[in-house]
Amino acid sequence: MPDLTLVALGEADIPGLTELTRRAQWRFTEADVAAMVSGGRFFGHRAADGDLASSAALFPYGDAMATVGMVIVSPDWQRRGLGRILTEKCLAEWPHDDRPVALVSTEQGAPLYSMLGFKTVGHVLKMMGKSPVPGVAEGRSVRAMEAADHEAVHALDRRAIGADRHRVLAAKIHQAKAAAVVRGEDGVATGYGLCVEQPEQRVVGPIIAPDERAAVALVDHLCAGYRGPVRIDIPESQRVFRNVIEDRGFALDDRPPLMLRGGDAQPGDRDLWFALAGQALG
Ligand SMILES: CC(C)(COP(=O)(O)OP(=O)(O)OC[C@H]1O[C@@H](n2cnc3c(N)ncnc32)[C@H](O)[C@@H]1OP(=O)(O)O)[C@@H](O)C(=O)NCCC(=O)NCCS
Repeated sequence: MPDLTLVALGEADIPGLTELTRRAQWRFTEADVAAMVSGGRFFGHRAADGDLASSAALFPYGDAMATVGMVIVSPDWQRRGLGRILTEKCLAEWPHDDRPVALVSTEQGAPLYSMLGFKTVGHVLKMMGKSPVPGVAEGRSVRAMEAADHEAVHALDRRAIGADRHRVLAAKIHQAKAAAVVRGEDGVATGYGLCVEQPEQRVVGPIIAPDERAAVALVDHLCAGYRGPVRIDIPESQRVFRNVIEDRGFALDDRPPLMLRGGDAQPGDRDLWFALAGQALG
């Protein structure tokens, strides 16, 4: 592509990447982008004046699975092959052809990903609600996450996701506005949840929990004291959890496809996976 160079991106590009997300009308803050940059391999096309025309990232979770996200081509540069070049670049960075690469696609992105061998294996439900959440989940002991919980939280995440996303998770914990754990009988965490704040909304996720009641108790804890819109992205397979949060005032806002390449299913104990860490991060 004349005037554009495909480059690896890093911390210095966080403002440029955040600006690109605005052009795509996504609501990421610089803190959201920084958390992703700390755990992903980012690429993009840079113009001669330094402006970023595109971005995409691979998030390798050990060698068990990876996700692709932050695929954005600035509107002025769309339909000239940049999205394809970037997605292929991310896939070339993943050497394990037989291990899954997952992504959550937009409507615009789906034809491109299908061409590159991704298949729809499910959907993600973007649910929007309001805090305070009506109703109270009882019978669960949820408390704020402490540094002493981090090891158990990382172990829970590995079990649920079937892969090691400790870099991204550590960055998200650091960024979180609130972080909580469900306490098991012996005091060790059996579930955890985080939330971050974006302009005009609180975004809850990830939530890893032993069951629906624990998951909803985490949502309550994470929203306590906050008044305003709340977003949670949940796997469509969590039917009971969806019903429970719909009863508590959440409504479906979007239902993007979850696409996979290199396998038919994501690894891990996905019954424990109640909310995504973000559409880019799974
Ligand atoms: C999706 C997106 C990244 C595609 O980037 P792009 O550089 O325009 O895509 P490419 O030019 O590489 O297109 C490759 C192929 O994908 C398909 N495609 C791309 N954009 C499409 C669109 N808007 N509608 C239908 N098909 C499309 C076409 O088959 C295209 O090939 P063709 O132009 O030869 O027909 C870009 O539209 C974008 O940034 N959209 C906003 C953010 C977004 O939705 N990102 C995806 C996140 S999962």
